[in-house]
Order: sequence, then structure tokens, then C-alpha cells
Amino acid sequence: MALDQAHLSTLLQREVVFFAECESTQIEARKLAQDNAPSGTLVVTDSQRAGKGRLGRNWHGRTGQNLAFSLILRPPLSPQQAPMLCLATAVGLAQALDLRIKWPNDLLDEEGRKVCGILAEMEAQPSYVEYAIIGVGINVNQTTFPEELPNPGSLAMLRGEQDRSNVLREVVFAVERWCAELSGGTASVLGAWRQRAAHLGQRVRVGSVNGIARDVREDGALMIDTGEGLEAILTGDVEMLS
Ligand code: BTN
Repeated sequence: MALDQAHLSTLLQREVVFFAECESTQIEARKLAQDNAPSGTLVVTDSQRAGKGRLGRNWHGRTGQNLAFSLILRPPLSPQQAPMLCLATAVGLAQALDLRIKWPNDLLDEEGRKVCGILAEMEAQPSYVEYAIIGVGINVNQTTFPEELPNPGSLAMLRGEQDRSNVLREVVFAVERWCAELSGGTASVLGAWRQRAAHLGQRVRVGSVNGIARDVREDGALMIDTGEGLEAILTGDVEMLS
């Protein structure tokens, strides 16, 4: 079914800005945030000309089949606490869609196929976060993908065709709830993240670091046991080796 701005605003009980096409919802959301859009404002599109992935990559999705959205949040967090928003978002998505989390921001199905990605960006002053833009791409009804994508999956491949508006409602409320949890501390988010993690206790490689993924730290770092001690990884891609 087509996405519709008025229907989405009612369903999600907030201001939803819908674009049939835009460059990137991250860019549109940033403009709105700079214009004082309230926390909870949601930008959604059917098609991105230049969807942004993590680490400078692109994010592609076939027009009208998937979900691409950016949620503006104004969380009461310090810039040091802000990386936890990415983990809280992953927990919300994993619970709402019954997926596993691959550090830091990939949501995988049981076969290790990537169904969903997160790009969290923020604007911060030295002591507080002005706003965060939580970008989420979910492969919903797409079932064939370009060959260059390493291991893509989708909700339709798992459960058949989905109503995108209903998926959006489930995930937005779940993401918001878990991000709000952070104002009471990080313990519940970290606990839920550990339960949904795809790789804790397994051998992984991130860049040149090879070892057993043991835990995730308060600042969002992945802790890898190299055999010579614990190494904290703050950025990169996890390759699962076992
Ligand atoms: C990744 O896995 O590398 C993160 C992908 C994030 C993609 C989403 S789609 C909606 C939002 N707008 C963008 O340009 N990127 C994010």
C-alpha cells in the first residue's frame, strides 16, 4: 500500500513529513531540526536519490517497497552519552521486528542477512545534545537485490509482504521508547542489547583486531578479547568468524 502523509500523521500521532522522493531523509530532517522541529518529528520517503549509509557508504532501496525514515530527537543526554542512542535504536528495532543485532547498527535475521541499518547523527554543544537524527532503512517488501550487496534480507523474505505503515508504527514507537530509557541510565538498554546481540561469545574480526566479542561498553564500544586483553572498538564493521 502507498504511504500517505495524513494517514501516517494520525497513525503515529505526530508531525510526519512525507516525500515521494528526496535526496536523503537525513538531510531533510536536519533542515527541520535546524528550524526548531520538535522531538518526535518524522521524515519518511518512498525513494532516496542519495541515501546515506554508515562510514560514507550509500543506502539503496527500491522505490515504494521499503521504509526509509529519519526521526528527530532532542534527548536529555550529554554528547558523551549520545552513542548509546544507536544501541537503543537497535534494541527497539530488534524487538519490534524480531531480529538480531550486529554491532553497532545492523539488524540481521536468523540466517545473518541484513534487513535493516541505522545511521545516527547529532548536533551537539559541549555539554548537551541539541538534536539527534536517527536514520533507519528497513528492507520491507523487496525480495531481490543488486549483486554487490553482501548478504541482504527483508521482512518479506521472512514473513511475506508487509503493510509498511504498520511496520513504521511498530518500529517508531519502539525506537522512541528505548531511546527515552536512556534518560534513566544505560543499564536497561545495555541489558536488552546483550540479549539481542548476534555475536557475543563468538570469534569476530574488526579491522586488524581478531578475538572473541565479549561485551558492549557504556560508550557503545565493542569489547573484544584478543587473548592478550580486552580491546575497545569504537568504529568499524564486525566480520563474524564462527
Ligand atoms: C547503514 O547500514 O549503513 C545505515 C543505513 C541507514 C539508511 C537510512 S535510510 C533513512 C535514512 N536516510 C539516509 O540517507 N540514511 C538513513
